[in-house]
Amino acid sequence: MATTQSTSRGNWNSKLGFILAAAGSAVGLGNIWRYPTVMAENGGAAFLLIYALLVFIVGYPVMVAELSVGRKSERNPVGAFRALSNSKFFPIVGFWCVLCGIVILSYYVIVAGWTIGYFFEQIFHYSGWTEMAAWVANTDNGWLNAGVAIIFMAFTVGIILGGVSEGIERAVKYLMPLLIVILIVMIAYVLFQPGAIDGVRAYLLPDFSAINSDILLAAMGQAFFSLSLGMGALITYGSYLSKKENIPEVAGYVTLADIGIAFLAGLLIMPAIFMAQNQGVQVFGDDGSLIAGAALIFQVLPELFHNMGGVIGLVFGATFFFLLSIAALTSAISLLEVPTSYIIDEHKVRRKTAAILIGAIITVISVVIAFDTSLIGTLDFIFSDVGLPLGGFMLCLFLGYFWKMENAKLELGQGFASIDEHWFFPVWSVFIRFVCPILIGLILGRTLWALFF
Ligand code: PHE
Repeated sequence: MATTQSTSRGNWNSKLGFILAAAGSAVGLGNIWRYPTVMAENGGAAFLLIYALLVFIVGYPVMVAELSVGRKSERNPVGAFRALSNSKFFPIVGFWCVLCGIVILSYYVIVAGWTIGYFFEQIFHYSGWTEMAAWVANTDNGWLNAGVAIIFMAFTVGIILGGVSEGIERAVKYLMPLLIVILIVMIAYVLFQPGAIDGVRAYLLPDFSAINSDILLAAMGQAFFSLSLGMGALITYGSYLSKKENIPEVAGYVTLADIGIAFLAGLLIMPAIFMAQNQGVQVFGDDGSLIAGAALIFQVLPELFHNMGGVIGLVFGATFFFLLSIAALTSAISLLEVPTSYIIDEHKVRRKTAAILIGAIITVISVVIAFDTSLIGTLDFIFSDVGLPLGGFMLCLFLGYFWKMENAKLELGQGFASIDEHWFFPVWSVFIRFVCPILIGLILGRTLWALFF
């Protein structure tokens, strides 16, 4: 046994297991569906630049903060805030985290369900069953949306039932390497196709005139969403982490894996869009802007795969949507783990009962969304773009001014013996107390101001 903590809540068996699980949480629909979509809506390469900056300036320090709060308290977000201070206010922030987890997962499984639908769409199309293909690809069909979301939810609950090392860690150990291999093979193929290079250009040459304050919020929301921050997923995952591990180091790996895969996903999808255009697929809307929203992935890409034709088209199409489902699954389990661990810890419910109960509640909300998918955009704005940075903002205040940086330092010092001499702590401390809350506060404040006044 590699860990010294109490085993009753479970813990990770190995450092690699933890890194894969946390990277699995981070890498998801956020990287392959949400990132290219938000990027295309917000000026392409200019967005990439701001997003990358925010990942390092705000995301990484907040990730270290979440992991240390989780590991110190060995609790879910509500229990963690309760355990580390006697403030009455911060446990409410913990509840906000749990609520964000529940709501985000309820629309996340709908989009994840589409990835299953489109996997079959590719197979049906290839088999010549065009009617079936069209039916399964109809994202306006409420019953179908609900059905695939329920299937996806069942997989998620199934893994969570297995617990931390037997369920989550075992699943991500196979799924994550598979995901990376599939992604790289697909990029290698796409980059050599006609038209692809225009996509690379559009992706990598920034148009700075596109930068405005809407981009800032979108980029910050995306940074939090993609790194799984601001709703306690990494407080919870950190609560199963061994005291031997160096938190700034493992957080560094997770951050790099996440931004690396987002970058690669862009490198697959932007060229793919231009390739599709080259083949006559409509990729620009009537107003001349790139087709964005959910349509970007779920309209343009399937057509591209169809146009490839033959077995190649089938293999690419089916593999792409399979890849997307895997990425979504390893993230969905972390979203479900937050409310599940909350009722296991705080209400002494057994894991099995907890996972099924929470899974059922979320499924009910999903079914409602399944019939009106326009809710996804609204919920995503409230709970991701605003909700997650808000959670991160509160966490910075908590560390900086309630739990206190000195206590955080003691926790980080476990697994980081040279912390007293190292530059990391003083720099991180300035980021958590000033840079991150001020930046998040300014961007959020500006958005809320524009919304209400
Ligand atoms: N990071 C995940 C993704 O990119 C989504 C997620 C958000 C997971 C918040 C957990 C917590 O798809």
